[in-house]
Amino acid sequence: MTVQDAATVGELAERIRPGFTLGVASAAFQIEGSLTADGRGPSSWDAFAEKPGAIVDGHSPAVACDHYNRADEDIALMQDLGVDSYRLSLSWPRIQPSGKGPINQQGLDFYDRLIDKLLKAGISPMVTLFHWDTPLPLEHDGGWLTRSTAERFAEYSAAAAGRFGDRVAQWVTLNEPVSVALQGYALGVHAPGRRLLFDALPAAHHQLLGHGLAVQALRAEGVAGAIGVANMHSPVRPASKRLTDGLMSKAFDLVFNRVYADPILLGHYPKPPLQVRPWFRALGNVSDEDLKTIHQPLDFYGVNYYYPVKIASGRGDGTTPGNHADMMTKLPFHLAAFPEYQSTGFGWPVAPEHLGILLRELKDRYGAALPPLFITESGASFPEPDHTAGPVHDSDRIDYLASHLGHALRATAPGGIAHDVELLGYYVWTLLDNFEWAAGYSQRFGLVHVDFDTLERTPKDSFYWYKSLSRARRS
Ligand code: BGC
Repeated sequence: MTVQDAATVGELAERIRPGFTLGVASAAFQIEGSLTADGRGPSSWDAFAEKPGAIVDGHSPAVACDHYNRADEDIALMQDLGVDSYRLSLSWPRIQPSGKGPINQQGLDFYDRLIDKLLKAGISPMVTLFHWDTPLPLEHDGGWLTRSTAERFAEYSAAAAGRFGDRVAQWVTLNEPVSVALQGYALGVHAPGRRLLFDALPAAHHQLLGHGLAVQALRAEGVAGAIGVANMHSPVRPASKRLTDGLMSKAFDLVFNRVYADPILLGHYPKPPLQVRPWFRALGNVSDEDLKTIHQPLDFYGVNYYYPVKIASGRGDGTTPGNHADMMTKLPFHLAAFPEYQSTGFGWPVAPEHLGILLRELKDRYGAALPPLFITESGASFPEPDHTAGPVHDSDRIDYLASHLGHALRATAPGGIAHDVELLGYYVWTLLDNFEWAAGYSQRFGLVHVDFDTLERTPKDSFYWYKSLSRARRS
């Protein structure tokens, strides 16, 4: 990352137009803990985390940040930070322990209090209905490989909408269905740990169907807020001019980006190149009715951006970051390295200009069908100590955030490469260091350091940076 990429607070503040949302994002399973409190049922992730070797160093999500008991302290932190909005997720198994049947009033009450407290603190809630914690009984019935999970998801969404529909400003149906299908069902490195490669595609389709049905359910409940989805997107490039690299890169772009965005925004799945068509056969006989259900009008589209991807044909050796899943070595392509970029704690390339490029690509692809956008997640982990007696000087994170937000704002400003994209806001992933899925507590993404022994919260330098940006912008 070059220094000029990381815009100063003054430059960023100047470019933020009044009404642009600055926020932070989180997910229930990563922060709440209290997995057996208040009648919550187990999720796919509770079970996955217990499998030997599934989580780095056997870290347990049982307590996480103890946000369930420390929500007041965390809201106070956000109030001090000066964010306009907090993107939280509801835990489906806390609200509906079996994933079907009775609703757990205590679970609803927890989020009811949380939402009211946020509003009282002047922070607008953006609520994600599904951030990966599928109720375990549904997972035992096949999870997202099964059509009925989509129907159950819509019923749970209706229950949440009925209770919170008057106070939630934005609803996000799903977070990154690609991650669930790919990491969870295709490669087996996330819950539920299935290793189905392309046979995992029904898990993509049923999540998308769940999205469509949930949008219908929210609208039927008459929610006051805007409705959208959060998809992960990465610009994909071939590693060379070789035809096979080009073909594999196109195929990866479908698997990663277009299988999720095309049906939502255009109402059909992308047409794969002939040579790789058999990989996508699970999507070949989808009914028009399903596609119509998935293709609901949306008020906004959420983009989670972390890194671009470079694809090379041939089997990888499993060493480049991103290829760590052993199932990856069974595929005829792999992720190639980006030696030109610095990397994050996860080894992901720090490539902020690709965020502007991505926004351009989305507009080129979807044109008038692209709703106004939020960047619903952007952030990075860097090596940081488990315990700290004083401030955490995370200048890498400040540079990361300043350059990514800077590129997004510059690209969408008049004269920018994506000037025709309406960008509504930017959410930092994330407020607190938390349970980073299969990486346990080994990767820290927070603006606030969490000591996982004492649960003490210590704002990092990036917290004060984001706070100063919030203060400096025009109102
Ligand atoms: C997910 C988050 C996760 C972050 C960093 C995103 O894909 O939505 O839950 O913590 O990436 O890995």
